[in-house]
Amino acid sequence: MAKELKGLVLSGGAGTRLRPITHTSAKQLVPVANKPVLFYGLESLRDAGVRDVGIVVGDTHAEIEAAVGDGSQFGLRVTYIRQDAPLGLAHAVLTAEDFLGDSPFVMYLGDNLLRDGIQDLVAEFRAGDADAMILLQRVPNPQAYGVAELADGRVVRLVEKPAEPKSDLALVGVYMFTPAILAAAKAINPSARGELEITDAIQYLIDQGLRVDPSEVTGWWKDTGKLADMLEANRLILDVLEPRIDGTLEGSTIEGRVVLEAGARLINSSVRGPAIIGAGALVEDAYVGPYSAISTGVVIRRAEVEHSIFLEDSRVEDIDARIESSLVGRGVVIARSEAKPRAYRFMVGDSSSIGLL
Ligand code: TTP
Repeated sequence: MAKELKGLVLSGGAGTRLRPITHTSAKQLVPVANKPVLFYGLESLRDAGVRDVGIVVGDTHAEIEAAVGDGSQFGLRVTYIRQDAPLGLAHAVLTAEDFLGDSPFVMYLGDNLLRDGIQDLVAEFRAGDADAMILLQRVPNPQAYGVAELADGRVVRLVEKPAEPKSDLALVGVYMFTPAILAAAKAINPSARGELEITDAIQYLIDQGLRVDPSEVTGWWKDTGKLADMLEANRLILDVLEPRIDGTLEGSTIEGRVVLEAGARLINSSVRGPAIIGAGALVEDAYVGPYSAISTGVVIRRAEVEHSIFLEDSRVEDIDARIESSLVGRGVVIARSEAKPRAYRFMVGDSSSIGLL
């Protein structure tokens, strides 16, 4: 096998499970501990020795290109590959055929996070002779995942979201392939949901007698495609945050692991980490509790928040009850209104979800 691996990062998709955030922006750019989830994947590829990365993009291509640029900020050379419609992971591979050429590659789902990176796994694949390697992790609810069945250390069957799973080994969103996967993706038909499934393409490799090796991931893995998982990823990353105070405090206290970026201000407030407060954010007469990620330019005033992600320039003011387990989009305002009659007043986008006391 040629030992240089290319990277293929999938950052198209519909992102229906993260609406309304994904009505206006790419889910791969939602920040986890104030850094876009996609950036963790790009750094993992770089750390595993990958240099040439193709990023498959869809409708949100402009935003992703603006954030990642030519990849040099990550030490990568990035090529963008346009997928006209999110027709499945195997379809995304076919879209990238020209970029991939005859190189083996690592395919990385742009909304996935692996604590321990992929260095060892890439090294294992490079050193071996497998035609593909899939990463697996034991999960309590395999019905929700692609599931692998093993025999004698090889993968023998892959089933997408099985009603009666034969194993608890879920497919993690990182795969290593030789170019054989291209022929497989061409040979399969769309599934019932109309997508070319990567599980079907890998099953095709197995059925052709090719070798698909499993590798169990031991550190945590998160697919951030849903709110609960996004908050969980945020929690796990904040848990290992290196504390740093570059912003300013007036009459305020900080406990635990906290990053206060330059230009962030705390006034008569209390922050209990792990938490990160971005550049230019203002926290006034407020409480920011554990597992909060407050982006650049956010204002939290006379309010209490915890276990939440606030995107750029959102504002929370004069709220009596604590806000928790929330993902608040860019420029969103949550504030008390004194206008009469006394009433809730919303201007909320499609597919938003609001929990009132
Ligand atoms: P998914 O999360 O499986 O799909 P999705 O983004 O369409 O989301 P939802 O199910 O909520 O509608 O996709 C995994 C990753 O792969 C994600 O980063 C998007 C990307 N992707 C593509 O680039 N092209 C595709 O055709 C699909 C289906 C996904």
